Amino acid sequence: MQLHWIRVEDVPEIWRRLEAVGLGTTEACGDVPRVVLGSPVAGIAADELIDPTPQIDEITTRFIGDESLANLPRKFKSAITGHPSQDVVHEINDVAFVAVEHPTLGVGYDLWVGGGLSTAPRLAERLGVFVAPEQVADAWHGVAQIFRDYGYRRLRNKARLKFLLAEWGTGKFREVLETEYLGHALPDGPAAPTPTTTGDHVGVHRQKDGRYYVGATPIVGRVSGETLTALADLVEAHGSTRLRTTPHQKVVVLDIPEDRVESLIAGLDALGLQARPSLIRRGTIACTGIEFCKLAIVETKGHATAAVLELEERLDALDLPHPISLHVNGCPNSCARIQTADIGLKGQLVTIDGEQVPGYQVHLGGGLASQDRDEAGLGRTVRGLKVAADGIADYVERVVTRFLDERDQATDETFAQWAHRADEESLR
Ligand code: HEM
Ligand code: SF4
Repeated sequence: MQLHWIRVEDVPEIWRRLEAVGLGTTEACGDVPRVVLGSPVAGIAADELIDPTPQIDEITTRFIGDESLANLPRKFKSAITGHPSQDVVHEINDVAFVAVEHPTLGVGYDLWVGGGLSTAPRLAERLGVFVAPEQVADAWHGVAQIFRDYGYRRLRNKARLKFLLAEWGTGKFREVLETEYLGHALPDGPAAPTPTTTGDHVGVHRQKDGRYYVGATPIVGRVSGETLTALADLVEAHGSTRLRTTPHQKVVVLDIPEDRVESLIAGLDALGLQARPSLIRRGTIACTGIEFCKLAIVETKGHATAAVLELEERLDALDLPHPISLHVNGCPNSCARIQTADIGLKGQLVTIDGEQVPGYQVHLGGGLASQDRDEAGLGRTVRGLKVAADGIADYVERVVTRFLDERDQATDETFAQWAHRADEESLR
């Protein structure tokens, strides 16, 4: 969470109030371990394999603020999930733990390392080990120390853990972790099964305690203070005091009794937070963009919102076989993960009719390693393929229409599969 327009003299009071509600700023930024991203439904979902909250708490208490990890080569991102939908986008984190059931050792975690996007994107890889819940914090610490001790410090744009993993490979990485840092071998472990549901938690889902959680979609993740206040009132009026947010820019309302679910959904709708959104509204995310980000080249949220609203009508008529994801970035850093989207847009100035205007370079057919599709991997670019900022809806409609014309229905081909095999002309 970022707060803007702060006066420096107010900072101590802001810290006091944040801490009073359990929010901290320690290592929220800098070349340190960033927030440990946990499953949005940790401890809640009926179909959860394991609640990762104790592991998140242990890492946070033992290591966030630890001075020996406060000067890493670069940022270090962590994610943990116990949910079968694999809802933390673990493949783009430096270290990640994904719940898995081992045939003899019970439920624990599959360890992934070395993911990251930006200008040299790389999906994380499995080390092939099984980490028991009580060993997670030590394994995390081992990976963080490897990064500290062996990570590249000389060039800032080559400093993330992914570059070390690329040089070492998973075999050496595992060996160094086991021999130099843990002092014992980790058991081999299976991969977690491919998710059968998306990890955005949109819609109505059952909790362990018989109540429900409801995920809703603010368009491109944007909500105002007024909306949040109204949302808090709405949630309280439905007997709950808990909300969570997701890496897919959704909000999840927890603890709703079954007989209040429909009333909550109606109230959410009235706030523009749909629990049953169109596929394109659900699948579109956008980064902060030029409004609030000093690294941005172009605006994102406004253009993406306009595109979603236009496309809802146009795509509805096309009857898409699968959801299509549209991710919009204001610059190459890829906070909105363009390389892992069906259609990813990277903000840059583009020349149209001899004039430089805000626009985007197009990435197509990205996916995540956990998807059971042979397209899983990063998106492709097509030489010279760019769209102007106000041309997103037209482009998406055009490329999706081509996909529908050309897709192989017999194999239920997805957009990403098609995008990787399609002629460049079809993608323009
Ligand atoms: C507006 C202020 C922000 C700035 C200045 C910023 C800066 C950056 C930079 C420089 C990178 C590239 C890292 C690299 O080259 O290794 C990056 C990547 C990324 N950021 Fe941001 N970011 C901002 C906001 C956010 C927010 C709000 C989120 C999500 C909650 C986010 C999520 C990500 C993700 C998912 C990546 C790609 C994964 C990676 O390589 O780390 N960013 N960001
Ligand atoms: S992708 Fe670029 S413009 Fe968007 S929030 Fe990240 S750094 Fe800022």
